[in-house]
Amino acid sequence: MIRTIEWTDAGVVMLDQKLLPAQETYRTYTDYTGVAEAIRSMVVRGAPAIGVAAAMGVALGVKASLARSAGELDREFATVCDHIAGTRPTAVNLFWAVDRMKAAYARAKVEAQGAAAGDLLASVRDALVKEALAVHREDVAANRALGRFGQELIPDGARILTHCNAGALATAGHGTALGVVRAAVEAGKKVSVFADETRPFLQGARLTAWELAHDGIPVTVITDNMAGHFMHKGEIDCVIVGADRIARNGDVANKIGTYGVAVLAKENGVPFYVAAPVSTLDLSIPDGGRIKIEERDPDEVRRIQGVAITPEGVPVKNPSFDVTPARYVGAIITERGVARPDYAESLPALQSASQS
Ligand code: MRU
Repeated sequence: MIRTIEWTDAGVVMLDQKLLPAQETYRTYTDYTGVAEAIRSMVVRGAPAIGVAAAMGVALGVKASLARSAGELDREFATVCDHIAGTRPTAVNLFWAVDRMKAAYARAKVEAQGAAAGDLLASVRDALVKEALAVHREDVAANRALGRFGQELIPDGARILTHCNAGALATAGHGTALGVVRAAVEAGKKVSVFADETRPFLQGARLTAWELAHDGIPVTVITDNMAGHFMHKGEIDCVIVGADRIARNGDVANKIGTYGVAVLAKENGVPFYVAAPVSTLDLSIPDGGRIKIEERDPDEVRRIQGVAITPEGVPVKNPSFDVTPARYVGAIITERGVARPDYAESLPALQSASQS
């Protein structure tokens, strides 16, 4: 399995995704501000991996604390959580993970009630490291489970289009969309993948192609504007993408360009599936109109590997995500099962199944 992010005694170790596919470099982060910067700059990226990084970042922040009282620890903890939560706005897994760490912190404090400051700090520290490791472990298991559910939708011989990277590099495990692909391969199906290059950050060309080639799964890179052509020619059997946030009605925020792919899929009668863990559901919002879309540095559009490709001074836009309306989504594949429309009913049912 590709090691995307790991907790070690030396710190949080991450594969630097900005350098792939040219270089496989692991970086070790020893403080929470470093982890926050890694999330912001996309050393680590992809909604579930961002969630794991956020949990580990919070644990690192508490691990380094020298607080001398419960009040001081509370203030430090709030600073750490706010700093991590301020890194990227769209992937809900980030906020889900920070909230989970807050709940673990509150539980640990109750358990250590009445203890001296040093003992309180030690128990909170242990509890938060344990929780971050659980977030990591559960993501690996969720990938496996959703892969098993999802592969049942994939016919033998399927040519699957994906957008961005929703693979091992975007998670702690096998991936979401690519977790389904890997599960189909494990089930003995001969599938192949078309990877949209995914301008401007090129997650498809750089990352999806790298990790599938690494595992020997057939992959062909196409530019984003070729997807319609191949669908129209009947060379794509289904689309599977990941998600950064899924609203109660099934609207899906994912990497910019996903919406266009979904519309093309509908026009060409190609099934369009979304694979995501339950931690990507945001049932607190009724629809995708409430999802904050991250605007990134315009230079990501203006330059490719440092070389300018637009005339000096011409404005560019760089929204990093778009929202695909639920009517284009044939199924949402989670570790609890496969949700079908009407999502306003099926998604809450899946989420409550996860709590029982
Ligand atoms: O900006 P990124 O690279 O973090 O965006 C990632 C995506 O949009 C992925 O498709 C999504 O997070 C699903 S990852 C399993």
